[in-house]
Amino acid sequence: MTLLNVTTLDAPTANLATVTALAPMQDVTDVCFMTTIASYGCPDYFFTEYLRVHETSRPEKHIVKAIVENTTGRPIFAQMLGESIPDLVRTAHLLSHYPIAGIDLNMGCPAPKIYRKNVGGGLLRDPDKIDRILGELRSAIAGRFTVKMRIGFEDTANFDRVLASIDRHQIDLLSLHGRTVKEMYHGTVHYDSIAHAVSRLRCPVLANGNVTSAPTALEILGFTQAAGVSIGRSAIRNPWIFKQIRQALARQPVEVVTLAQVRDYIDRLFRMPTVQAIQERSRISRLKMYLNYIGQGVDPAGVFLKEMRKAQTEAELFGVCDRELLTHPDRVFADNPYPGLLARPGCEG
Ligand SMILES: Cc1cc2nc3c(=O)[nH]c(=O)nc-3n(C[C@H](O)[C@H](O)[C@H](O)COP(=O)(O)O)c2cc1C
Repeated sequence: MTLLNVTTLDAPTANLATVTALAPMQDVTDVCFMTTIASYGCPDYFFTEYLRVHETSRPEKHIVKAIVENTTGRPIFAQMLGESIPDLVRTAHLLSHYPIAGIDLNMGCPAPKIYRKNVGGGLLRDPDKIDRILGELRSAIAGRFTVKMRIGFEDTANFDRVLASIDRHQIDLLSLHGRTVKEMYHGTVHYDSIAHAVSRLRCPVLANGNVTSAPTALEILGFTQAAGVSIGRSAIRNPWIFKQIRQALARQPVEVVTLAQVRDYIDRLFRMPTVQAIQERSRISRLKMYLNYIGQGVDPAGVFLKEMRKAQTEAELFGVCDRELLTHPDRVFADNPYPGLLARPGCEG
């Protein structure tokens, strides 16, 4: 198969070579969320949350829904997580009947319940197994085959071997989270390792991990020379980020977001059919999950976060949103999270 470069990946921003992607996030990147994000400035690519692959698995309904009901106009990759080669191949064949841009393999999930089964990030301990999986899947997948991974399990001892396998098996795109599995989601992102992968691979690499704003994205792109960025949590916090990155790349003024716009965004999240379909208690938890990220840009002292976490009812929750966001509606929503404010949605398993 011909190797793809960024241009042949048909980036919709053809005049700007750099691509952006919404990183896959379990229980977040469903069809409603992707549609909502798209309305603020679409990423070039979407990825589904991971589809767990094992002997009896079938593509889960809500993941298939994210693919077939994708009205964003942007391609979507279906992500698989598993280690059984026959089942991965079987699932890849099933997925090929859906309108996907390609198939992505998860080799990065850091949740202990996942990596203990030698899937997701657990695979990074076994570069021989990775080589076999990539080889078999490459032969089985006629279209694009991409990988999302971290730089290692505990350290980067296997990194070069895994990169060599990615190159040998002509993977079409690598999304690389610049942390080890053991580093989970916090602390330093090793952008030097992302730069190393870029220099070693023929396929485009998307830099992932703490791409928090347009200026940060430009800095990371400059340092790593990556083909683009993959953004997870900061897209929940600031769905304008993809548009802002494109504006920055085009050297145009970058849109400034106000607290009133953020209040509207919260309403959009609340009105999503997936949120409306659940009971009030679950709906509050769901909204709080989003608000944990959004709150990192509202006020430097974290008052919004503190108050929002205390709310017990929908009325209390929206009361906090109105008070903290609409008292000074023209106040600027920070483009980067305020230092020291952590999102603690408890859903990064
Ligand atoms: C709630 C949540 C769920 C996630 N689920 C997935 C997933 O299904 N597949 C995957 O490859 N990565 C998953 N990730 C990891 C993200 O795709 C991304 O690599 C990570 O959050 C770092 O990027 P960020 O700093 O832009 O958030 C998840 C992350 C979060 C926070």
